[in-house]
Amino acid sequence: MRFLLSLTLPLFLFLTPSCSLDSETNSPAYKFVTVSGEPTTLNASDVIQVASFEECTGKCEKDPVCVMAYQANSSDPCYLFAWNSIQEVTRNESGGVGTVAFKVFTDQPSCELNSPFLLNGKVYPINPNDTTNYLWKIDTSEGGWKITYIDNRIVDSFTCANFTFNRPYEDGCNPECNITMVQVWAKPGPITIMYGKNDTVETWTDCLNMCYNEWPCNSVHYDVSTKFCFRFKVGMVTFIERMTASDGNHMAIKLPMNDKNCKMTTDQLLDNQYYLVAPAMYYPQKRMYFRVQTTPKYYLIKTYLDKDSTYQGTTLQGCPYMSMASGYWNELSKEVFCYRHSKQPGITQTEAKELCHLQDMELLTDKYTGAVSSGQKGEWYIMEMSILQTDLTTPVRTGFGFPGMNPVKSWYGLEKVGDKWTWSMPEFRVFKDEDMPIPWAVGTGGSGDTCAYLHWGTGADEYAGYDFIAAPCNSTDVDGFSCGSWQQEYMDIKQYKDVTAEFGYEQDCCGFSDAEWKELKASPY
Ligand SMILES: *[C@@H]1O[C@H](CO)[C@@H](O)[C@H](O)[C@H]1NC(C)=O
Ligand SMILES: *[C@@H]1O[C@H](CO)[C@@H](O)[C@H](O)[C@H]1NC(C)=O
Ligand SMILES: *[C@@H]1O[C@H](CO)[C@@H](O)[C@H](O)[C@H]1NC(C)=O
Ligand SMILES: *[C@@H]1O[C@H](CO)[C@@H](O)[C@H](O)[C@H]1NC(C)=O
Ligand SMILES: *[C@@H]1O[C@H](CO)[C@@H](O)[C@H](O)[C@H]1NC(C)=O
Ligand SMILES: *[C@@H]1O[C@H](CO)[C@@H](O)[C@H](O)[C@H]1NC(C)=O
Ligand SMILES: *[C@@H]1O[C@H](CO)[C@@H](O)[C@H](O)[C@H]1NC(C)=O
Ligand SMILES: *[C@@H]1O[C@H](CO)[C@@H](O)[C@H](O)[C@H]1NC(C)=O
Repeated sequence: MRFLLSLTLPLFLFLTPSCSLDSETNSPAYKFVTVSGEPTTLNASDVIQVASFEECTGKCEKDPVCVMAYQANSSDPCYLFAWNSIQEVTRNESGGVGTVAFKVFTDQPSCELNSPFLLNGKVYPINPNDTTNYLWKIDTSEGGWKITYIDNRIVDSFTCANFTFNRPYEDGCNPECNITMVQVWAKPGPITIMYGKNDTVETWTDCLNMCYNEWPCNSVHYDVSTKFCFRFKVGMVTFIERMTASDGNHMAIKLPMNDKNCKMTTDQLLDNQYYLVAPAMYYPQKRMYFRVQTTPKYYLIKTYLDKDSTYQGTTLQGCPYMSMASGYWNELSKEVFCYRHSKQPGITQTEAKELCHLQDMELLTDKYTGAVSSGQKGEWYIMEMSILQTDLTTPVRTGFGFPGMNPVKSWYGLEKVGDKWTWSMPEFRVFKDEDMPIPWAVGTGGSGDTCAYLHWGTGADEYAGYDFIAAPCNSTDVDGFSCGSWQQEYMDIKQYKDVTAEFGYEQDCCGFSDAEWKELKASPY
């Protein structure tokens, strides 16, 4: 109560002059009824830093679509709720903590607002002159207050509910809503490749719309404090780190809709659903699709290719988009595996292993110990090592691995179990350890070390081009980590043909025509 007093007292004093003015002219205006309570969810609000609650309501007053403002305490940010973004407020007696200001339109003097009257059964407009559209009604309930929204427009500018949280939308299955933007409080997580477009823009809405309007954009991040709007093309973001509203990080994922997912809630859209890349987004490959999943810590975007896809004549061997194949699919059949080298300086082996698992992979097993050196292309087209360093400026491999770095240290799937060093996926190995001993770096390793990283480049074993160094699993002296898996076909995922069946759309197989290449290369990013 003391807190509330100190908060409202200066506000009251400040507003005294306008109070008498109001009663004199008796002109209706937007005012705020302040109560002790808390919105039931913040996840559709706009968060801003303010010096006072007065500034918070001031921002809401200036924004025509704002219907409510909230602050937990004077050190917490201010949350602004746009029309249709909040349904319920819990009163203090029912456990709601903080201060809520309802925007009302009234001719009552601001210092004598009759809150029981104004907050029970009254309807308010966004535009005082508009009596049918963008209305909201506030009702008093046992636990607090309920807000309902009234809109009688024939669908016009407010299409697809402006991508607000409360899905499904009434018009969500209309053709004009065939691409949606799912908004989350989050920031790009580990191994994000900062490849895309970056601009400084004033608001999150502007940033969101940029991504929506740009064909290459697959996901977008907005930092409220810096106002940087970074748009990512497909494949660049795998881990989206979940945050809370007060962290000031917005992200949105662009998703194509079909007859089925247009009826889903926002949470369902993010819960293990598959989406086609084309035609909604720029496709650096044909026959691409992606899966979105939700974990307690992350939203995951995993990008796949049809197993028959080719890239400029080279087959991609049925591996996920952001990984490479260890050999030709047809030549070696099931011996082919997929691998992904990821730059993440300072990561521990324990964390690296977890990030591999979240990608349905294991820390990488060295397939051909000692048999390859950098850049060597044998009959098997071995790329496991050569791709470590090179940032090939092809669409497929942008930002892959450790561009420009030499030497490179990367966690591998080699762990000491009892007395024996054991590979994470021994079935990947072409040669037995007895026939082709692990190339340990000379004079490295300690008796207590149970993990190992690959050491490639300058200073490494000259014959193989690399060696392994034993290290404590919590060591942070690495540049990143390497994961491996069998091909998509052996993963428990939906295949391209099953996804296209849901969308009713299939791309040609497999390469691009010259005209198509020209068009794709003209794409802005
Ligand atoms: C948003 O809030 C609702 C209600 O509290 C909750 O059920 C839902 O899981 C939240 N969604 C996200 C994405 O945080
Ligand atoms: C202010 O509110 C936030 C959010 O509820 C809470 O995390 C924080 O501890 C509060 N701070 C104080 C000083 O009460
Ligand atoms: C609301 O109730 C809590 C206890 O549930 C109390 O600590 C707090 O001071 C009250 N007032 C406000 C403004 O949150
Ligand atoms: C409402 O209508 C009046 C008279 O046409 C006009 O002067 C005023 O600007 C309008 N108000 C808004 C908020 O559009
Ligand atoms: C919805 O989006 C359109 C276009 O960006 C904008 O003009 C309109 O004001 C938005 N409506 C609401 C209620 O946010
Ligand atoms: C985005 O642009 C700003 C301003 O040019 C720059 O300071 C910032 O580092 C850029 N962010 C990224 C991630 O490139
Ligand atoms: C959305 O619909 C328009 C026509 O209404 C069509 O041109 C476009 O290709 C569709 N986009 C997707 C991703 O289905
Ligand atoms: C790693 O763990 C050991 C023992 O568990 C501890 O002594 C050491 O400080 C840790 N090192 C780092 C870099 O965290």
